[in-house]
Amino acid sequence: MNRVARLMVADLLSIRYISYTDSSCLFDSMAQFRIIGQQPIGGTITVEGAKNHALKIIAASLLSPEEIVISRVPDIGDVRLLLDILQAMGARVSYDAAQEVARIDTSNVKSGEMPAELVRGIRASAVLMGPLLARFGEVTIAHPGGCLLGRRPIDIFLDGFRALGVTVKEEADATRCTAARLKGARIFMPQVSVTATETLMMAATLADGATVLENVACEPEIPALAAYLNRHGAKIRGAGTPTIRIDGVRKLGAGKCVVIPDRIETGTFAILAAATHSAVRIEQCEPAHLGALWALFDRMEVPYTHGKDWVAVQARGKKPFQAVNMKTHEYPGFATDLQAPMVVLLSQCHGLSLVHETIFEGRLFYVDKLNRMGANITLCDPHRALVQGPTELHGKNLESPDIRAGMAMVIAGLIAEGETRIENIQQIERGYANVVERLQSLGAIIERV
Ligand code: EPU
Repeated sequence: MNRVARLMVADLLSIRYISYTDSSCLFDSMAQFRIIGQQPIGGTITVEGAKNHALKIIAASLLSPEEIVISRVPDIGDVRLLLDILQAMGARVSYDAAQEVARIDTSNVKSGEMPAELVRGIRASAVLMGPLLARFGEVTIAHPGGCLLGRRPIDIFLDGFRALGVTVKEEADATRCTAARLKGARIFMPQVSVTATETLMMAATLADGATVLENVACEPEIPALAAYLNRHGAKIRGAGTPTIRIDGVRKLGAGKCVVIPDRIETGTFAILAAATHSAVRIEQCEPAHLGALWALFDRMEVPYTHGKDWVAVQARGKKPFQAVNMKTHEYPGFATDLQAPMVVLLSQCHGLSLVHETIFEGRLFYVDKLNRMGANITLCDPHRALVQGPTELHGKNLESPDIRAGMAMVIAGLIAEGETRIENIQQIERGYANVVERLQSLGAIIERV
């Protein structure tokens, strides 16, 4: 059987793997959220493990033939899809959603060929390229999918691989990379990229000699990934700063890993509390990862306090908070993943706010949907929007375009008068676990229909 035929068969076989970890239930395209707005919200909510850390630790399982046991793995669509990809490649995978524990043994994975259909469903599949190249010296990948936030190329990954001695062939349907051995190199990234940093860092752990990555991303998930790899034999220094040095080693072990708290969930719940003028305590989180959000809350006069692992937003009262200009930025700046929820909050604030999205070129187009609900948002260009507040929102039938804009619509639905229905909620469930139950526990009227 030739390579293409083998990949097609792997795709067909992957249907049974989907049912194994049951990601199919998370991709029920008919499901909707139905929300009745303007209900009193309040109470305590706990934060899940970080999606964007869990996905990278799952990818790291390919660096070693030993079993990895990952706890605090959120029960979300993207996690299940990535586990399905590993399983389709021959890994032994189990996921206990109640305990939030995943066990992965990749000793049976024999090559770097990835199942195209599954890869197209998730951007994080690109991160598997680094470990696969390091372990097998080859990888074949269809163009990775994920949220539609504008162009999402992988050119920085491929240039980095070339610098490590990899031959890259870009074909119409797939990219094929091969290397007898990876060789350490100095790589300056032309643009700060989270997944390219993680991918090249993992590839370099098993390369010959030293690799220096410059102008890399500093998001907290990156030092957390490096810490896990270092515990199992890697030699990585500087993760969490703009320059990372990796001294290649011959092999890596594997073991236990606990996923760090999701800073985007934490910020989303804090914004939800402010936007609904509620008192909400957010637990099991790491407020130190959200300095840029707290600085904006200070300017907006949103009352909050936080400790080492909790935040309490006390936003009761009717008086609107102050409008503020904001700009998304690589960490430690304001996270692009919190931009859409923040726009909903700004629509309830007093005055004019300028929102500048600097990371993705297609991450503001959802504002039309908020305008249909009654918001007053002018899209100046693909990167800038003016939000005039406060505005009354009214329930509407909407469709979620991506994880974060979808969650922003949920928050808008909680504020709005009347009923909001949100379609395409599999986009939201890709990134947030048990949305309905957790928001119901805060008093929200929301159901999955
Ligand atoms: N870029 C390139 N070439 C590349 C890679 C990136 O031009 O090879 C560009 C992108 O198009 C974008 C910019 O660089 O304009 C930054 O993108 P980055 O690569 O940092 O984003 P990502 O790694 O694809 C991760 C998260 C996103 C999060 C961004 C920014 C994962 C799986 N995804 O994406 O999370 O928004 O970093 O922080 O880690 C989400 O969770 O909803 C989400 C979209």
